[in-house]
Amino acid sequence: MRYKIALLPGDGIGQEVTRAAVQVMKTVAESFNVTLEFNEQLIGGSSYDKNQTPLTDETIQACYDSDAVFLGAVGGPKWEKLPHHLKPEAALLKLRKSLGLYANIRPAKIYDALIDSSTLKKEVLDGTDFIVMRELTGGIYFGEPRGFDDKRGFNTMVYSHEEVERIARMAFKFASERNKKVASVDKANVLEVSQFWRNIVHEVHKDYPDVQLTDMYVDNAAMQIVHNPRQFDVLLTSNLFGDILSDIAGMITGSLGMLPSASIGSKYALYEPVHGSAPDIAGKGKANPLAAISSAAMMFNYSFQMQKAAEIIEMAIERTLANGYRTADIFSEGCELVSTGQMTNYVTGYYTDIFNEQALGVFTL
Ligand code: IPM
Ligand code: MG
Repeated sequence: MRYKIALLPGDGIGQEVTRAAVQVMKTVAESFNVTLEFNEQLIGGSSYDKNQTPLTDETIQACYDSDAVFLGAVGGPKWEKLPHHLKPEAALLKLRKSLGLYANIRPAKIYDALIDSSTLKKEVLDGTDFIVMRELTGGIYFGEPRGFDDKRGFNTMVYSHEEVERIARMAFKFASERNKKVASVDKANVLEVSQFWRNIVHEVHKDYPDVQLTDMYVDNAAMQIVHNPRQFDVLLTSNLFGDILSDIAGMITGSLGMLPSASIGSKYALYEPVHGSAPDIAGKGKANPLAAISSAAMMFNYSFQMQKAAEIIEMAIERTLANGYRTADIFSEGCELVSTGQMTNYVTGYYTDIFNEQALGVFTL
């Protein structure tokens, strides 16, 4: 097999964590005998500096030509004062829309070795494993009219039937392959758009009778995520609510540096760590590469149907953590502080070990 990956390292630590993820991808490709073809392009501030725009047609075209897009991170203080449409973040929004990436998936699961580094209690966290399924190309992020003048500012929260239906379907589909529970988040007690959302989610639910559906107001959902996160399996949300709730859910793992994400549509898919470009530590070898590496695992899983590869990458991450290797953001006493590059080498080393162990296991059976 041969897969084309559009590689968009972006700004700040996006560069070094992408390099780390690519190292792991190459190791995986070799072990499974697949060919990966990388097409590296600029995005965000680094694109603005060269082309006066954070997203060029050339970069979008590379994504259209790809089997999967891998993005590092965008943004930084250098570009903060630019007008809205030229900010690095605008590139991300335009890319999501252009590629039709309507479903954003962020897993909230706890790595055993890190359970003590979360601000939440171990008893609360134990066994937590859910995903936030966030609608990504609609809602108030893109609704018209929008704008502001001297007297007022406004945005519009709007959803079409089709937009809600397809994200709801995706949530039920994921749930039916997981623990068969969907919690749909809305604010139906106040917002008409939420009542509309709720009605459609219930309609779609009829096609998935083996999945349990709960409606939850967004304020309550925020509270429940920190109060009793074990109750969730798939948390289905609109764009803005999902932006907020996925950050809350992110804290379950203890560090933003651990969180991967996938954004998928009917044709394209993009994988990126949830963390930002962290300009303060950029280029110093301090960044945690695990979120990027875990995003690569999601890519193998969802885009290339290489579930086994994804599983072994995750096991290699677990083993790296279990053996006490930590970048600064997840460091705790008694552990060994390592650089981005060292951490990546451990993951690739363990990946190869586990791959060989499993191959031997099959052989001896
Ligand atoms: C995210 C980010 C983005 C969003 C920003 C950078 C536009 O917060 O991916 O969650 O709000 O979607
Ligand atoms: Mg966000």
